[in-house]
Amino acid sequence: MARVSLVVDGTRYVDEVPARLLLVQYLREQLGKVGTVIGCDTGNCGACTVLYAGPDGAAQAVKSCSMLAVQADGGEVTTVEGLAASDGNLHPVQKAFHEQHALQCGFCTPGMIVAAVDLLREKPHPTEAEIRDGLSGNLCRCTGYENIVRAVQAAAAAMNGGAAAVPTQAAPSEPAPAPASEVGAA
Ligand code: FES
Ligand code: FES
Repeated sequence: MARVSLVVDGTRYVDEVPARLLLVQYLREQLGKVGTVIGCDTGNCGACTVLYAGPDGAAQAVKSCSMLAVQADGGEVTTVEGLAASDGNLHPVQKAFHEQHALQCGFCTPGMIVAAVDLLREKPHPTEAEIRDGLSGNLCRCTGYENIVRAVQAAAAAMNGGAAAVPTQAAPSEPAPAPASEVGAA
């Protein structure tokens, strides 16, 4: 067993944990932070993404299935459960995911939101290509990613204090009228 001391979602925890316990297992099984989910357990899907700041470093997104709890000792973890304000107001990224319908089954959503928060911290004005690249480590089986990209664009606009620069979905175009010469042509 090894001792870990870390801040998770604003609360300090000090625990004895097995040396091989994964950070995601510690968060879910020991702290009850089940908002962070396990998809692949192999570092591929991104569902377990949390923000981690080491004792001397800035917070960045990490896959908590690829990190031991003891490696997080002395640092600070923010899960999807710690993003909302203390008065309950959702983080702009959470709000945008809700408003832009950026989820279906929701399994990828906690990791996707945390990864998007990290992306917007690094790039407050991301292009669509930068959003797609920034979220490339997070897999979604349901949405086709379109609404996720729109949600990140909306969140970026909201966080920059402007109106949401979200492209609206193109309405289906009316078929062009047939040339007169073809109308009723036998
Ligand atoms: Fe961690 Fe899939 S559960 S990357
Ligand atoms: Fe189902 Fe993304 S909403 S996996």
